[in-house]
Amino acid sequence: MNKIAVIYYSMSGNVEYVVKKIEKELDVDLMPIIPKKDYPKKGFKKFFWGGKSSVMKETPTLEEYHFDASQYDEIIIGTPVWASSFAPPIRTFIKENKEKLKEKKISVIICYSGGGAKKAIEKLKEYIGIKEFQKELILIDPKEKETTEKKKDINHFIQTFKRSIK
Ligand SMILES: Cc1cc2nc3c(=O)[nH]c(=O)nc-3n(C[C@H](O)[C@H](O)[C@H](O)COP(=O)(O)O)c2cc1C
Repeated sequence: MNKIAVIYYSMSGNVEYVVKKIEKELDVDLMPIIPKKDYPKKGFKKFFWGGKSSVMKETPTLEEYHFDASQYDEIIIGTPVWASSFAPPIRTFIKENKEKLKEKKISVIICYSGGGAKKAIEKLKEYIGIKEFQKELILIDPKEKETTEKKKDINHFIQTFKRSIK
């Protein structure tokens, strides 16, 4: 075991940018979560429909995925902040896998534009039913606003896994 599953949703590539960096450095399985019906990705509609879906705590139907929890003892969940919460596709995944997530060490990657990350983390913990995440990586739009500082944070996050794997 000792394998890590990275379960993530990314609409515009920021979360994906981080998980791809992780994939280069660690033995992880990436598991993108994809809603069957895509959200609008541009303009006002993007924020309106996604925001509404998040506020209404929707659980959109997901494209088929295969998650063999027995292969992993560590899970990383990656999500953007939507309306000060986590993205609805992640809500669906957790709902469908709550039992499987128990007993796992769970860490989180949160990408946002400047507000609501802490709230999103609290809501995510509550929804999963855990008190704390093992590790948290919180970044402001790392793909669009790449900085040395953010690269360092990502690298540090990766290193802590390398240490815990040894
Ligand atoms: C529907 C929607 C709601 C959002 N709500 C917030 C928010 O409440 N706070 C915030 O800081 N950013 C918010 N954002 C911005 C994203 O969290 C941010 O751009 C993130 O880096 C996107 O990750 P992604 O590219 O992996 O999808 C929102 C974006 C969308 C599409």
